[in-house]
Amino acid sequence: MTDVNKMWGGRFDLPPSELMLEINASLPYDKRLYAQDIRGSQAHAAMLLKQGIINQDEEEKIQKGLNAILREIQEGVFEFRAELEDIHMAVESRLKELIGEAGGKLHTARSRNDQVATDLKLFVREECQKIIVLLTELRKTLKEKANEHVETLMPGFTHLQVAQPVSFGFYLHAYHEMFGRDIKRFRNAFDVMNECPLGSAALAGTPFDIDRFFTAQKLGFQAPTKNAMDSVSDRDFVLEFLSCSSICAMHLSRLAEEFVIFSSQPFGFVKMPQEYTSGSSIMPQKCNPDAAELLRAKTGRIYGNLMTLLTVMKGLPLAYSKDMQEDKECVFDACDTLTLGLKVMNAIVKDLCVNETNMKTALEKGFPTATDLADWLVKKAGIPFRNAHHITGQIVKFAEKNGLCLKDVPLPEMQKICPQITAEVYNVLDVVHSLNDRKSYGGTAPQQLRERLQEI
Ligand code: ARG
Repeated sequence: MTDVNKMWGGRFDLPPSELMLEINASLPYDKRLYAQDIRGSQAHAAMLLKQGIINQDEEEKIQKGLNAILREIQEGVFEFRAELEDIHMAVESRLKELIGEAGGKLHTARSRNDQVATDLKLFVREECQKIIVLLTELRKTLKEKANEHVETLMPGFTHLQVAQPVSFGFYLHAYHEMFGRDIKRFRNAFDVMNECPLGSAALAGTPFDIDRFFTAQKLGFQAPTKNAMDSVSDRDFVLEFLSCSSICAMHLSRLAEEFVIFSSQPFGFVKMPQEYTSGSSIMPQKCNPDAAELLRAKTGRIYGNLMTLLTVMKGLPLAYSKDMQEDKECVFDACDTLTLGLKVMNAIVKDLCVNETNMKTALEKGFPTATDLADWLVKKAGIPFRNAHHITGQIVKFAEKNGLCLKDVPLPEMQKICPQITAEVYNVLDVVHSLNDRKSYGGTAPQQLRERLQEI
């Protein structure tokens, strides 16, 4: 044969141009799917034997050949040739080199369309599991840190204005909860991608008597997919993975943003572990929170990958189109970015240094017990909340004008504004009292937080 293209030369007079090779080849990046591709092929070959489509000798050669290719790739001696387009062709072509004719039988009753869908699904499923492990580690670190700071006072913010006293442990527990939901999302995505596309062939199924339940089970799926056309056109599982990754990255970014703010001099709530900061080339005093800033920025890449693939998929007619080849770099980049982000965040939280004095000082400045005062007026003086809110506002105004904390406003001054106020009010103006008092389920009171942390 003097085919212009080894794999499908029959129909062609001319070989692909250099530019065509450049735009068409996915091998430079989809070689990352080699292990999944080989696993998929091994399951397919075992099924072809079981169904009597290939014989024992052929199957043995195929299995051995694929194992040899796996070793070659792992040892770095496999030659990836871009003219072979993608990992599927590269493996198959090497198989033919190694075992001859029998290698050509592997592609019976399948197409690259179901092959790539299977490989990628296997890859994404594995990534979901790895990310769940990293999220679990981060949550463990957050829990440990939260346990150390159940009573450490800090200002809770709304609009980044001091709102009410909370504990630093309570604040960390908020992120613990977010990452817990992320785990559920990845688990759910994993469960949804439990059907195996292998054996769907090009788009319509195959006339060969294959056993798709066998290959599905061999590859760890629950069942085969139910519609061949859908199977080869479906990238929902990638989109779902990227959506879960985007939400998780958004959580990382919010935490990173707060570490940037909290570690700045005007706040000084925390000190970043030095190994995760960098100096300035001109200002010797600087210790910049670069790692946290990059965590914040890398979120954009992950959203970008989601947007890329949503856009690729939005106008595609069924079934497979080459557009779908653009899915892989999105997945790989999102996996790498999120994996790195989770590891870095875990390390930062572990060694974060907390400045309790600065947090307490910032808290005292912001009239954080104003709500407690209003609540006291409602409970003890029977004043409707709206009026209590107004009265408290006047007391805050007086305090602010005179540079006082609420608890230092003299009783006669308070009584000028509201005669029903008694000395008893000072109990609720204390920040520790305020913290302890918020013991509703899920509240910041240490007693509550301890219970919630124990449940984990
Ligand atoms: N490299 C291709 C991809 O990633 C594999 C599928 C090719 N199928 C085809 N009909 N050209 O999508």
